[in-house]
Amino acid sequence: MAILFHCPWENADEWLAALRSAMPRDEIRVWPNVGDAEEIDFALVWQIPHGELGAFPGLLGISSLGAGVDGLLTDPELPANVQIARLVDPLMADRMAEYVCGNVLYYHLGHDRYAEQQRFGRWRRRPHVDARDRFIGLLGLGHLGRRCAERLGEFGFNLLGWSRGPKEIRGVHCLHGNDRLDEVLERAGILVVLLPLTIDTENLLDKVAFNVMPRGAYLINCSRGEIVDEEHLVAALDSERLAGATLDACREEPLPADHPLWKHPKIRITPHVASLSEPVTGALILAEQVRRARRRQRLVDVVEVARGY
Ligand code: NAP
Ligand code: GLV
Repeated sequence: MAILFHCPWENADEWLAALRSAMPRDEIRVWPNVGDAEEIDFALVWQIPHGELGAFPGLLGISSLGAGVDGLLTDPELPANVQIARLVDPLMADRMAEYVCGNVLYYHLGHDRYAEQQRFGRWRRRPHVDARDRFIGLLGLGHLGRRCAERLGEFGFNLLGWSRGPKEIRGVHCLHGNDRLDEVLERAGILVVLLPLTIDTENLLDKVAFNVMPRGAYLINCSRGEIVDEEHLVAALDSERLAGATLDACREEPLPADHPLWKHPKIRITPHVASLSEPVTGALILAEQVRRARRRQRLVDVVEVARGY
């Protein structure tokens, strides 16, 4: 029995140390040094090259080192009949909520406008909008979206949420299904994206969606770049249909230094840091997944391959 580990992140060594401390008796092999492939029974991976996981005939389970599984599920040679789980860590939800609240408050309080005024030395007070008069749309009401809703609710914002299936969340007007999306878009002064990337969500936010949103609305994308049509976003910002956007995820990552998105005056970019997986807490959760697999139990937070998340 051995565990396969593949992690391209800067803190891969920290992850390996945390996993070894959480599973001191287990052998963890770092890809590509996999040894005897038949001994690998669990894979803990992020962005492992497609095709590689098919080489391990004894796999009992695979877990993403992050919350998203789009990188895994798009592997055409993903082994069938192996449970695939994602990392669901309450700490990540708290971190995401901090990121989302910080960005929502930045726009809500008009700090983007004051930053612009400061460039011209302009001392001008802008009208204040009360939180209860500000509609925030949350696309995605899963593990992360719910926590964001709870924290935003503490400020008194008017919350509209959208998911695939029905939800009941205190303080959130919840809608679901494709035919209810526009009801969220048309009222959301600030739209927060916390959807997984799937064939249904790719390019969901394009010029059609931006034209439904209120003039002068803001977008905060904390999930995957492919959910937003970046050319349409730039056009919507240039035409002042949208007032600003924060992108924590872009189609091309790392975003090349000469990419025009960096220079756009109405776009704020962070390098996919809204909620990084945390080795110390994550390793404990993943160690339990390995134990479950070896006891032939169902993993927790298993993804549904057919629906894409
Ligand atoms: P989750 O628990 O699976 O929640 C996903 C939500 O999206 C659910 O509410 C789901 O609806 C909804 N959804 C999925 N497809 C939909 C569709 N076609 N139409 C309407 N709603 C749909 O995922 P999570 O843990 O909250 O994470 C969400 C995403 O955040 C991840 O997939 C990842 O891409 C991203 N992420 C980014 C960072 C970062 O640092 N930027 C960090 C972690 C995660 P149902 O509830 O009805 O199923
Ligand atoms: C990060 O983007 C994640 O999916 O955990």
